[in-house]
Amino acid sequence: RAEVVAMTGECLNHEALKRAGEILKNGGLVAFPTETVYGLGGDALNPQASKKIYAAKGRPSDNPLIVHIADMDSLYRIVKTVPEKARILAGKYWPGPLTMIFQKSDIVPMETTGGLDSVAVRFPSDPVAAALIRAAGGYVAAPSANTSGRPSPTTAQHVEEDLGDAIDMIIDGGAVGIGLESTIVDFTEEIPVVLRPGYISLEMLQDTLGDVRMDQGLIRSDSSVRPKAPGMKYRHYAPKADLAVVEGQAEKVVARINEMTEADLANGKRVGIIAAQESCSLYPKGTVKCIGSREKEETIAHNLYEILREFDQCQVDQIYSEAFYTPQMGQAIMNRLLKAAGHKVISV
Ligand code: TXA
Ligand code: MG
Repeated sequence: RAEVVAMTGECLNHEALKRAGEILKNGGLVAFPTETVYGLGGDALNPQASKKIYAAKGRPSDNPLIVHIADMDSLYRIVKTVPEKARILAGKYWPGPLTMIFQKSDIVPMETTGGLDSVAVRFPSDPVAAALIRAAGGYVAAPSANTSGRPSPTTAQHVEEDLGDAIDMIIDGGAVGIGLESTIVDFTEEIPVVLRPGYISLEMLQDTLGDVRMDQGLIRSDSSVRPKAPGMKYRHYAPKADLAVVEGQAEKVVARINEMTEADLANGKRVGIIAAQESCSLYPKGTVKCIGSREKEETIAHNLYEILREFDQCQVDQIYSEAFYTPQMGQAIMNRLLKAAGHKVISV
């Protein structure tokens, strides 16, 4: 079973980091905190390590991994060229919750990139992550540290639940800050394209770069256009219960959820409700989880995956969720929530 070692950025455990670095250099796996979600790390330049990552997660091997770095020099060794706009974005948002995709150089194995000749690169700001990447030699491939098909982990306990038996070490850095995966921007095309929304919104990217597009495969739910990021086509983040998102005018949403909850309860179903703090008290029946405040959207992003995991554990049959189209992270929150719901939306 994985050894769990606790540490924080202010109080790094250098002895444990050294051992973690050795595990990674020897082809083993170490889970670690980042500012977005926990990552499942392996040596990005070792094809065997990447294979192990896929096996541990039960992840299809055509779904490429993100290579994590801890300094800018490392970037230039794993990519062919860095376009000017990417340089600007790195200057503004790295280290941080941003992943950029480039043409890969020859030292990055196809096992790491799922057979693609491009590579996704992220420079995380979490100091524990940075220390681990340095200890490992500079290049750590890391998907989110969940079993494929479960919500991404935002605490070390989530990682233990999913992967405790499959990996060598878990570094526990406490709860993550953001709680949703990084924004992915593809620089292999003329105009940069957002392949996955995150903390850094399309608007923020456009403010810095001008023309930036959103991947059509993300916008259309009819699946006539495939998302470019292979991982975005899978039904990730799927809770065990049926999940439906109810959207529309606030009072109508509350009324409809209460109506459906009554009906389900009468049919012997157990019902969960995901609501903003502002409306939590308006749901008298069912198991109500307050996800956070609409006035503080970062709280909603932070709690989403944890709540989905909690509902898996308390075994509800049906979940109704309010919609959260908040200003900055609304696109990211709703992308994850709608995917978890299999795009089941009830408009009122
Ligand atoms: O915040 C994050 O990015 C977290 C932490 C651990 O850093 N990592 C993460 O990794 O979310 P993962 O593997 O769960 O998601 C990576 C996504 C997948 O959807 C994958 O298909 C896409 O990035 N991706 C990776 N490389 C790509 C490439 N070369 N071209 C297109 N999409 C790529
Ligand atoms: Mg993932």
